[in-house]
Amino acid sequence: MGLNVKKFIGETLASVKKNVDGPAICAFSGGVDSTVTAALATRAIGKNLHAIFVDTGLIRIGEKEYAEQLAEKLGINLKVADESERFIGALKGITDPEKKRKIIGKLFIAVFEEHARKIRAKYLFRKRLSDRRHQRNRCASALGLHEAKPKREPRLYLFQGTIGPDWIESGGGMRATIKSHHNVGGLPEKMGLKLMEPLRDLYKHEVRMVAKELGIPETIYNRQPFPGPGLAVRVVGEITPERVETVKKACKIVEDEMNSSAEKGKMERPWQYFAALLPVKTVGVRGDERSYQYTMVVRAVGSLDGMTAHFSKADWETLERISSRITNEITEIGRVFYDITNKPPSTIELE
Ligand code: XMP
Repeated sequence: MGLNVKKFIGETLASVKKNVDGPAICAFSGGVDSTVTAALATRAIGKNLHAIFVDTGLIRIGEKEYAEQLAEKLGINLKVADESERFIGALKGITDPEKKRKIIGKLFIAVFEEHARKIRAKYLFRKRLSDRRHQRNRCASALGLHEAKPKREPRLYLFQGTIGPDWIESGGGMRATIKSHHNVGGLPEKMGLKLMEPLRDLYKHEVRMVAKELGIPETIYNRQPFPGPGLAVRVVGEITPERVETVKKACKIVEDEMNSSAEKGKMERPWQYFAALLPVKTVGVRGDERSYQYTMVVRAVGSLDGMTAHFSKADWETLERISSRITNEITEIGRVFYDITNKPPSTIELE
């Protein structure tokens, strides 16, 4: 049965209003899932929602600025946390994809917990100032009477834009773990936050329907998905700041070229399109010299919900332009491959 979007929005708002008393935080990446989550939560609790954009150093070119503008446009109360050195530092020497994902998941939560502690402390301070009972206690204390201990406040809520495929692929519901999505299988067992995931039962196309109903512009809700662990899963093997820079530039080239070809009607805009760096060197020739350089993979897929996907039949001219630009503009890259595998048997991201 299809999703009843109006009913879903009404019930979600009612549930958030009922459960969240005081401030809450929201993991905000600027992607469609976290944007819809933050927009819903803002409708329910207004400025009590503190959205946090974590700059992990693993984000695309221009992504932080995009998130800031988007939050302003939608009236979302946003703070940017620059944590790039911490994330890149923690991933040094790590090559195993699942270990990378777990490290990233834990770090995200550590950052949110730190922000939650500060927000909670501020909130409690203000609340106590205006709490009449507290005033009475102060009088009682002045008279030498016993001061009643203020009630312990519960942990803050963390809103996350988790959707169905995130927990299904992370091994939820007795399924095999395909990969630990950073916001599910990558989370630490104990954390000082309570999770609130309003989109948990939805698929991507349903999230887009909710976005449309909320009045979010199409250019925002039809953006291609971007994984929470960011470019960490597009640098196959060990992450170094240089490799991240390389993949950032290549992703921008793929996005620019495919967007431009789609606008000109030369190809359909894929569901997702990006580049990933392989830790493999191959021999080539630059000018009259031998070269021995790294390999970039271009990936473009069509999909409905990310659970299955087929590689895009991109037009040859676009691919050729992407290949020339990557090898000319990124001198560390000597060879470009186009990924022609479907999901299954591969996944969309390389790790
Ligand atoms: P895969 O690579 O599993 O990806 O075929 C399916 C979709 O999910 C995105 N993806 C993630 N999204 N956290 C996310 O929020 C993650 O850890 C994660 N891993 C993959 C991927 O980009 C694709 O759209």
